[in-house]
Amino acid sequence: MAQTWTPNSWRQKPIQQVPDYPDLAALEATEARLAKYPPLVFAGEARRLKSALANVAEGRGFLLQGGDCAESFAEHGADTIRDFFRAFLQMAVVLTFGAQQPVVKVGRIAGQFAKPRSSGVEKQGDVTLPSYRGDIINGIEFTEEARIPNPERQIMAYRQSAATLNLLRAFAMGGYANLDNVHQWMLGFVKDSPQAERYRKLADRISETMDFMKAIGITSENHPSLRETDFFTSHEALLLGYEQALTRVDSTSGDWYATSGHMIWIGDRTRQPDHAHIEYCRGIKNPLGLKCGPSLTADGLLELIDLLNPANEAGRLTLICRFGHDKVAEHLPRLIRAVEREGKKVVWSCDPMHGNTITLNNYKTRPFERILSEVESFFQIHRAEGTHPGGIHIEMTGNDVTECTGGARALSGDDLADRYHTHCDPRLNADQALELAFLLAERMKGGRDEKRMVVNG
Ligand code: PEP
Ligand code: CO
Repeated sequence: MAQTWTPNSWRQKPIQQVPDYPDLAALEATEARLAKYPPLVFAGEARRLKSALANVAEGRGFLLQGGDCAESFAEHGADTIRDFFRAFLQMAVVLTFGAQQPVVKVGRIAGQFAKPRSSGVEKQGDVTLPSYRGDIINGIEFTEEARIPNPERQIMAYRQSAATLNLLRAFAMGGYANLDNVHQWMLGFVKDSPQAERYRKLADRISETMDFMKAIGITSENHPSLRETDFFTSHEALLLGYEQALTRVDSTSGDWYATSGHMIWIGDRTRQPDHAHIEYCRGIKNPLGLKCGPSLTADGLLELIDLLNPANEAGRLTLICRFGHDKVAEHLPRLIRAVEREGKKVVWSCDPMHGNTITLNNYKTRPFERILSEVESFFQIHRAEGTHPGGIHIEMTGNDVTECTGGARALSGDDLADRYHTHCDPRLNADQALELAFLLAERMKGGRDEKRMVVNG
């Protein structure tokens, strides 16, 4: 029998990845302030996302989830948010039109501030300091002072999330996402890239279709779905004191919801079944993500599924697989088979970033070809198992950064120094993200054609 859950029952459990706050009274005071602040998202929105994900779990749709590895206070600005949203919309339109499946759009944004670290300390020369844990906890500068966890940062993260979400809502609902603008989403630096021509052709076809629909009376004025889009937010629920402060009862259903974002996920380092992060997440009703890395056994996964989704509700749980291009073939089939054998309803998503990080010229980077290779294997394995490759989870930005090598512009190790801006892991730039979207669209289309052949043949 599961123990009674409360928003603070996680505090009775062992916990990983906790910052060492020197002033616990100040931390408590901050959490009490946050607990009075307005929710960032609403339960009804989280339920809408859950039902969209339920369709994906049942094979009708695709989840596109992406954004920064870690949002930063320094890079907070309207242009960064707009450029991210444009790049993301382009990917979404390529997937929707290319693959003719509804795309569920979820940003790693408006709350993605806390980072798990493989080591609690960072060494530079003779100096050892506590690791940077994300802007919501401490500062990235390599000084003793910056690395002290400061609760005031939680208030700043909350306010940045609110401002970011406000702009995203305006973009999604206020006309920017109108399909009539499909040509205008092209970012300046992508215009002369190899992806630009492909995108232009696709945008032309969409415009043609829109013109035809206009001629028969269907316009973006009389059909909101042509001018508005559903865009949701997500982040790793790592800093549980912050999450608890934003956990609220939904007055309609009487259920508890995390109101820090629509979907939250559990990291690969904090998924111990008897620990705090699983305890917190099991009690809230939002859609959840669970990172699945090479150390997760089939039995371990089934135990976690029972804890997080005891009612086997479709859309509740997304398994975000991040094995590495050379390990996915070893690990994914055994997990798929266990889930299928037990009849568990999940969304299978592929995170081709976190198992493919290498160090080159002293930079953490990810070779684009390894990212593509993990995605290809993910699709092939699902086709072979007869399951639905339901989504992708990526670290990306709308900025013209040089953080991942490869792609159509063939970024090399020597290019990394040019524009390496990430606060944590290397991200795909808009060009690389679009290239990935085209590849995904082809794979998704391939799967559809195959299914048709089976049905007709
Ligand atoms: C992340 O998504 O940024 C992350 C840390 O992932 P994982 O928990 O899979 O390592
Ligand atoms: Co990351």
